[in-house]
Amino acid sequence: MSDQPHVYPVPDDFAAKAWADKATYQAMYQRSLDDPEGFWAEQAECLDWFKAPSKIKHTVFDTHDVDIRWFEDGRLNVSSNCLDRHLETRGDQTAIIWEGDDPKDSKTLTYRQLHERTCQLANALKDMGVKRGDTVTLYMPMIPEAAMAMLACARIGAVHSVVFGGFSPDALAQRVKDAGSRVVITADESVRGGKQVPLKDNVDAALTREGSDVCEKVLVVQRTGGEIDWHEGRDLWFHEQVDPQSTDCPAEEMGAEDPLFILYTSGSTGAPKGLKHTTGGYLLHAALTHRYVFDYHDGDIYWCTADVGWVTGHSYIVYGPLANGATTLMFEGVPSYPTNGRMGEIVDKHQVNILYTAPTAVRALMAHGDDVMDSSSRDSLRLLGSVGEPINPEAWEWFHRVIGKERCPIVDTWWQTETGGIMIAPLPGATDLKPGSATLPFFGVQPALVDNEGNILEGATEGNLVMLDAWPGQARSIWNNHERFLQTYFSTYKGMYFTGDGCRRDEDGYYWITGRVDDVLNVSGHRMGTAEIESSLVAHESVAEAAVVGFPHDIKGQGIYIYVTLADDVEPSDELKKELTKWVRKDIGPIASPDVIQWAPGLPKTRSGKIMRRILRKIAANECDGLGDTSTLADPSVVDDLIEHRANR
Ligand code: PRX
Repeated sequence: MSDQPHVYPVPDDFAAKAWADKATYQAMYQRSLDDPEGFWAEQAECLDWFKAPSKIKHTVFDTHDVDIRWFEDGRLNVSSNCLDRHLETRGDQTAIIWEGDDPKDSKTLTYRQLHERTCQLANALKDMGVKRGDTVTLYMPMIPEAAMAMLACARIGAVHSVVFGGFSPDALAQRVKDAGSRVVITADESVRGGKQVPLKDNVDAALTREGSDVCEKVLVVQRTGGEIDWHEGRDLWFHEQVDPQSTDCPAEEMGAEDPLFILYTSGSTGAPKGLKHTTGGYLLHAALTHRYVFDYHDGDIYWCTADVGWVTGHSYIVYGPLANGATTLMFEGVPSYPTNGRMGEIVDKHQVNILYTAPTAVRALMAHGDDVMDSSSRDSLRLLGSVGEPINPEAWEWFHRVIGKERCPIVDTWWQTETGGIMIAPLPGATDLKPGSATLPFFGVQPALVDNEGNILEGATEGNLVMLDAWPGQARSIWNNHERFLQTYFSTYKGMYFTGDGCRRDEDGYYWITGRVDDVLNVSGHRMGTAEIESSLVAHESVAEAAVVGFPHDIKGQGIYIYVTLADDVEPSDELKKELTKWVRKDIGPIASPDVIQWAPGLPKTRSGKIMRRILRKIAANECDGLGDTSTLADPSVVDDLIEHRANR
């Protein structure tokens, strides 16, 4: 990376019309630090409260006592904020544009229609015995019913847990069990890139696993009409349960700190953790960031290409946009189907103004050359956004030049499942852009860089990214395991939230995320723990030991590199590599497919038996000259063998 990146100043016309120009951003940011109570009390007025909060912020970041409460005596309902309050002024405005996998399939739902269907579904859930505080697992395609299901849960005070539709039955079972969901909502099949994915079959398989018998009812949307097994007494058709219901369902009055959803994500160790997000602070953070970072104005057509199974889909397909009365586009398919020009064609078809996507999608298009976008004009676009992983400056420039035709600012948004909403990002009317930098903190966000001992570093420097104080959208806990929440995020550096990311800050105070500093991988923007993949591998009878690391990958950002030590008497073979690949895909899901498998007769370990991943990462990256000190290894000769047989040259 050059020390002097190209700077893209804020376009004048953008600044003139934006919610915030430079001076406004600076004033609002400063106020959010100097007077958080006053600032957030005022901002909270943009939501509809049954009872407005009088207590604004009660947050304690202490290793032994993390307690995060925002607006704690306020009462509201997320679904009525996203639907009911818009009916009078924009009942007939499109809330959701749905674009199917097949370019011939699309439809729209107005706010009134979305409200009616959500109420009907909420009534159906009540009939199925779902009560306030119950958890409901959603394992769904990218169809409007997914948004309705989230909103219907919120409406009756149930807590949803969306599980990405690409996860395996085992992964789903683990999450149903941990959340204790008595109801699962799914579809017969999902359709992506012209292929059917057997969601209902996966649910059937998941529910045979130990502990997932907590689930009593499965509500099934008929998406394709494909053949499925039917469990009488357990399975219910969505249309049969929902269509006859009343379109009136009063929204439950929820406390601001009542849970809204659980979302599972990977850490460096152990099983995925269910982050708990609550009602008032989360919704405010999602809505406010959506308005300011995407500079959303009435009439804009906004498209976030994420899946609702990830936090980006929660905050920026459903909750943020709908709270702002926006028109949000939901796409069922993949950007490469039926052709690589699809993304641009969807932009033209629906006249999209704001496009929020992931660096991996940009790099995949870029690999096809500039003419990949020739089938569309994209003249409607005025703003682009990036999320999920660091965007390399080359991909940023291509995104800007080819997709945005040099007219659209790019907001590179850094945040996490844990943060609930965007934390570091430009405001397009206020912040000059530097390709590859997420730039500056959002209102109320107090980032700092610390060294490995937790000392705060000043000025232009590099270190571990932490947050010094709470923000409204922050996860409050890990479902069923508050102790793990404290351990994971608050024990590394005293009194600070640790993000797990490394970061550089330049002379202008701009933040440049350098990637995870823990054992978490980011593959095509999907977050995965190396430990999860390792424990899947060692469950295979041929595997004695496995170590998983990431390596730089041109399109995916990071690829998955696996070192496998085979059990005694097992011979390495290409067939076995294929079998292990299949094994991991089946166990976790296709997103965890290994890119490279190397047979490792031995792994580099310290004398105390700890695997030295630093060395494995270097070999995987084909950087064998700078291995550093290997003298502490129990058997330094294993390294020579690994270098000799490395698979990524
Ligand atoms: O490493 C950072 C990376 O993604 C991680 C969070 O992953 P997840 O919880 O799945 O949420 C992804 C969507 C918000 C972070 O710890 N990350 C996310 N956005 C960026 C990023 N890294 C660099 N730049 C970003 N804009």
